[in-house]
Amino acid sequence: MSVLWKSLRPLAFQLPPETAHDVAFAGLGAAQALPPLLRALAGRFRVEASSLRVRAFGLDFPTPVGLAAGFDKDARLLPLWHALGFGFVEVGTVTPLPQAGNPRPRLFRFVKQEALINRMGFNNGGAAALRARLLRLRERGRRPAFPIGINLGKNRLTPMPHAVADYMALYDTLKDLGDYFVINVSSPNTPGLRQLQEGTRLAEILDRLQQRNQGRRPLLLKVAPDLEDHQLDAAVAQCLDHRLAGIVATNTTTSREGIPADAPRRTEEGGMSGRPLRVRALDVVRRIHRAAGNRLAIVGVGGIANAEDAWECLRAGATLVQIYTAFVYEGPAAARNLAAGLRDRLAAEGFSSISAAVGGEN
Ligand SMILES: Cc1cc2nc3c(=O)[nH]c(=O)nc-3n(C[C@H](O)[C@H](O)[C@H](O)COP(=O)(O)O)c2cc1C
Repeated sequence: MSVLWKSLRPLAFQLPPETAHDVAFAGLGAAQALPPLLRALAGRFRVEASSLRVRAFGLDFPTPVGLAAGFDKDARLLPLWHALGFGFVEVGTVTPLPQAGNPRPRLFRFVKQEALINRMGFNNGGAAALRARLLRLRERGRRPAFPIGINLGKNRLTPMPHAVADYMALYDTLKDLGDYFVINVSSPNTPGLRQLQEGTRLAEILDRLQQRNQGRRPLLLKVAPDLEDHQLDAAVAQCLDHRLAGIVATNTTTSREGIPADAPRRTEEGGMSGRPLRVRALDVVRRIHRAAGNRLAIVGVGGIANAEDAWECLRAGATLVQIYTAFVYEGPAAARNLAAGLRDRLAAEGFSSISAAVGGEN
C-alpha cells in the first residue's frame, strides 16, 4: 500500500462505500483532465517489461493485469487506468437501455476480510451512451494503447425469453468499439440471469452471437463461482463447441464463507468479492484449464490482491488476471504493484514470458 493511500484510506472508509467510490471517481476524473498529471502518473505507475507482454485471443496486452468489469461501467476513466498501470480494462456491464440499478445502500465493506458485498444491479448509462463515449475518445486520439473489453448484460426488465435479443442488440451497437466482448450471465443481482449459464439458453446466446460475429471479435463467457462442477464442465464444453475465445472466471459469489457469522451486514443480499473468494475462483480457473487446455484463454478474477495471488492464478491456467476489490483496499498503486511483482517473480523463476508460465502447475 502506498504511503499516500495509507493516510487517505481511513478518511475514505469513513464514507459510505458507494459515496467513497463516487468521490474517488470525481477525483480521478479531475486528474484525467490534466495531461501533465496523467503523464506524471504514467511515469510512476506503468511497468514496462517485455516479459509482461501477453498475446491472448489475437490481442496484445502490455501487462496481464486488468481492471475487472463493474468498476468503470460507462468507460469514463480509460486514460487514467492506463496511466495507473493497468494492462487492459473491461468496461460495463452495459445493458441495451440505461438503468438505475438497485436502491442504495447496495455496496457493503468488510474491511478486516478485505471483502465487499454488492447488489448494484447493472447501474449504467446504456449502450448508446457507451458507444458515444468510446467514439469520442477515439476521435480525440485519447483511446489508450491497451485492449478494452466490453461486458454485456441484459436489462432487468427484459423478460427472460427475450434475453438473447438484448445480447444481440448490444453486440450490434458496440461491435466496432470493443477489442473483446464478455457475455455476462453470472451476476447474482439481475433476477434469473444466472439461469442463462446453462443448457439450451446458453447455447442459443452463444450460437446467435457467433453467427453475427463471424469470428471478427473475441467473445468470452463470464461464469459464476457458484456453479457445481458438472455445470461448469458443461459451460466449458459449450464455449468450446461455439469456438469462444475464452472464459472470465469468476464473478462474485452468493456464498458468505469467510465472513464471520456475527458480522453485521453479512446477510445483505448480493455478490461477495475479495479475499474470501480467492480459493474458489482459483479452483474454477484450474478446472477450466484442465478441461480446455490452451483452447480457451482464461481471465482469472476473484480475490487477487497481490503478485503472489496473481502468480498462483497464472500457474493454475489463467493467461490474464483482473482485480476489482483489491483496488478498493490497496488503492491506486494496486495494478503497478501486481505487475512489478509478477515481473520479478518471472525473473526469479527463470521464465522469459508470462505465457511460458501459464498453467505450469498442472
Ligand atoms: C461493486 C461491484 C460491482 C461489480 N459489477 C460488475 C459488473 O457490472 N459486471 C461484472 O461482470 N462483474 C461485476 N463485478 C464483479 C467483478 O468484475 C469481479 O468479477 C469480482 O468482484 C471478483 O473480483 P475481485 O475479488 O477482485 O473483486 C462487480 C464487483 C463489485 C465489487
